Amino acid sequence: MSEQNRKRLEEMRALALQGGGEKRVKAQHDKGKFTARERLDILLDRGSFEEIDAFVKHRSTDFGLDKQHYLGDGVITGTGTIDGRLVFVFSQDFTVFGGSLSETHAEKICKIMDMAMKVGAPVIGLNDSGGARIQEGVVSLGGYADIFLRNTLASGVIPQISAVMGPCAGGAVYSPAITDFVFMVEHSSYMFVTGPNVVKTVTHEDVTSEDLGGAMTHASKSGVAHFAHENEVHSLMAVRRLMGFLPQNNVECPPRVPPTDDRNRRDESLQDIIPDNPNKPYDIKEVITGTVDHGDFMEVQEHYAPNIVVGFARYDGRPVGIVANQPAVLAGVLDIDASLKAARFVRFCDCFNIPLVVFEDVPGFLPGTEQEWRGIIKHGAKLLYAFAEATVPKITIITRKAYGGAYDVMNSKHIRGDYNYAWPSAEIAVMGPKGAVEIIFKKEISAAKDPEKALDEKINEYREKFANPFIAAERGFIDDVFESRDTRPRIIRALEILENKADTNPRKKHGNIPL
Ligand code: HXC
Repeated sequence: MSEQNRKRLEEMRALALQGGGEKRVKAQHDKGKFTARERLDILLDRGSFEEIDAFVKHRSTDFGLDKQHYLGDGVITGTGTIDGRLVFVFSQDFTVFGGSLSETHAEKICKIMDMAMKVGAPVIGLNDSGGARIQEGVVSLGGYADIFLRNTLASGVIPQISAVMGPCAGGAVYSPAITDFVFMVEHSSYMFVTGPNVVKTVTHEDVTSEDLGGAMTHASKSGVAHFAHENEVHSLMAVRRLMGFLPQNNVECPPRVPPTDDRNRRDESLQDIIPDNPNKPYDIKEVITGTVDHGDFMEVQEHYAPNIVVGFARYDGRPVGIVANQPAVLAGVLDIDASLKAARFVRFCDCFNIPLVVFEDVPGFLPGTEQEWRGIIKHGAKLLYAFAEATVPKITIITRKAYGGAYDVMNSKHIRGDYNYAWPSAEIAVMGPKGAVEIIFKKEISAAKDPEKALDEKINEYREKFANPFIAAERGFIDDVFESRDTRPRIIRALEILENKADTNPRKKHGNIPL
């Protein structure tokens, strides 16, 4: 290399590293935010980042842009590793034109997405952007659409993760929205289709950015975000943790870690977890943490529709996706939000060969005009569809109630559950005992001398006959009934047996899930 070129390379490298310059980096730090490069340092294994396209420059000449060039053009792209496993990354640099997306900025993102698809490795995008580069107009809009197309084609082929660490507004939100998991940071990131000013003009509502589209808003109200963390470090560490449960792509299995928890461990505390009174709640998360390896459960969408719990854990080192009704919230009823949350999670796990373990205690679907008019029929159908089409290993444990349509929906034997188990406390019936006897013994009860006593007697009779797991077990709808303390060893054994399970769906272009 000539001395001149060596010097030039050094200078260009230094220029690329400085982003938008010291002043803008300080402004970023003053907002309590890390720079795009600092974030990659936190996210990736030390020293593993390999950058490409550091010397890319925009091609615009309008509005004085011909005089403003920053090497890299506001996004840092390349590869790195997380716990030694390859990932493709892009990290938007707010210090360069506010991280706004130009034609070349989009090309850089598309390049690593194309490479990730060829190689079969996940893409992690760190978003911090003022949206379309205003000076570039439609060229920038085209760049977004190029990314959206790739997001869509990559969906179900490689895991795609979005960490939103600053503004993400307008059409730009649709890239994270298509990806599998959205992480947000409280008080420094926001996502909305139109910001507070437009909202004020159109609907006359006064709302702050945080309230309209901050991390907790999307984590609890809209369900757009899967995770909200109090700072960027926690957020990026959580991305690392999540990756540990996921395969690299849709033809690999999720990575098994060497098992370090006793596979035969029985949890005696589960023996008494079901209250004597069937209307009393208990916390299904105790069942989850009591049975998974080391009690380590990564909950997804913790704050959204908490009447259903979803997330990742391991049994004997094998990653699984867990779906569990939560009797401690709204009695674990299935409503629209719970159905949507669980359906998307089930489909993610099925895309990426992650076995499903379902803990079921569900009194049914939520009644009411609000739910009916908003379409509980089509939304509940999504969950049914998702479980029915899933071909990964599927295990269900009915801990208590499995009533009505919800019995069918929650991964029943009839929709290809592989191992359907029940605890002795399970109640499997068309409906709860009280509702049932009020219908079928209506006349007897009202004719009785003491209707209340007659009702109680009939409820007991019904409970004795139907509210148990044995009729379902007689039919083979339940494969076995076991004591709750045996849950962990039984799940581990079932997962082992199902390890090489192969099942298929009929050939088709794609199904027509009731959207
Ligand atoms: C070009 C932009 C920019 C943009 C910010 N900058 N957004 N440059 N295009 N979209 C530049 C600013 O000029 C400034 O440059 C630097 O980035 C930092 O911006 P500030 O405004 O000083 O920062 P801050 O006060 O933190 O405000 C951040 C912001 C604001 C809220 C994001 O910049 C903003 O409202 N930007 C416009 C957002 C927007 O309307 N975008 C288009 C959305 S529609 P200097 O040189 O001073 O550092 C869209 C459509 C996508 O994106 C459609 C896809 C289908």
